[in-house]
Amino acid sequence: MYNIGIIDKINPKGLEILDNKDNFKYEIITDLSTENLLKKLPEFDGITLRRGKIDSKILSNCKKLKVISRHGVGYDNVDVDYIKQNNIKLLVTDSSTSTSPAEHIMYMILSIYKGVNMFDSIVRNGKFADAINLDIKENFELYKKNILIVGFGRIGKKLIKKCLGFDLIVNVFDPFVDEKIIKSFGGNKVSSLSESLKTTDILSLSLPKNKDTYNLISLKEMKLMKKNSIIINVSRGGIINEKDLNFALDNKIISYAGIDVFEKEPPEKNNPLLSNKRVLLSPHAATFTRECLENMSIETVNNIIDFFEKKIDKSKIVSL
Ligand SMILES: NC(=O)c1ccc[n+]([C@@H]2O[C@H](COP(=O)([O-])OP(=O)(O)OC[C@H]3O[C@@H](n4cnc5c(N)ncnc54)[C@H](O)[C@@H]3O)[C@@H](O)[C@H]2O)c1
Repeated sequence: MYNIGIIDKINPKGLEILDNKDNFKYEIITDLSTENLLKKLPEFDGITLRRGKIDSKILSNCKKLKVISRHGVGYDNVDVDYIKQNNIKLLVTDSSTSTSPAEHIMYMILSIYKGVNMFDSIVRNGKFADAINLDIKENFELYKKNILIVGFGRIGKKLIKKCLGFDLIVNVFDPFVDEKIIKSFGGNKVSSLSESLKTTDILSLSLPKNKDTYNLISLKEMKLMKKNSIIINVSRGGIINEKDLNFALDNKIISYAGIDVFEKEPPEKNNPLLSNKRVLLSPHAATFTRECLENMSIETVNNIIDFFEKKIDKSKIVSL
């Protein structure tokens, strides 16, 4: 019998699969405090992991643990050095976690480019006829604007198709992806991030957070950008320097931002972005669609079952 810890609740569709397996039992853990994880995790052979930080202090207590199945694809909440040294495998939901985030990026771009609910509110406030006098200097067409996609993995590849559908010109910065691949998707590979930022109208980030990408976009980079440019981040907080972003928006260095992810989540009450009217916010919710959450739950659970039944697809295992 394999004992599985479900760390943070997931959609019931995945749990139904476990309910029908005789050789698996599970417990859902919703108290994600370090104290509770230290106490509970040593019981498990494998865990699924949504939110919750799994550091080396917790892991060193888990002598039975063979596998961590992430509900998602980012794994900056796991001590990867420790699991690598101790041969604990890390699995990700590589099939189900890119469509909704790519759509969320488009939602943010379109909302910002079309005035973030401006029209909805004037109709509701009985000001329909005044629309003709609205200041729409900041409403734009996407047609022939330059988008720079930073990180051309699963999300980047889904996003480019949507961008081309809107006639955006797509530049891609990803030092690890071959130019031919980017071309085959209809994009132009750029080799210098800073050079490319100078002509960018829309910057969208879809890359992992690690020591090389931390604060990749700071004031220095924003100062290179056009005054009308916008930045969308659905990847991870901390890849953009939040204080610099707030400063750049307040000082009209760039125009607007769409932010789904924060360096500290939930963000602290005094995080200046929460009161900045030039930011469209969402609560780390780029995957929050019915389809995506159901599919991620199913894939997370199937991954852990496949691992123990020795039929896990190699594409699901993160090579560390
Ligand atoms: N907001 C959300 O709910 C949400 C959902 C899914 C993923 N994410 C985040 O988005 C990130 C990307 O997801 P994905 O599935 O596309 O990942 P992926 O691993 O398929 O692709 C990431 C890409 O980033 C590239 N990259 C790495 N370092 C880079 C650098 N310094 N500069 C430019 N490119 C770099 C890699 O070469 C890779 O092609 C994940 O790491 C995750 O943290 C967030």
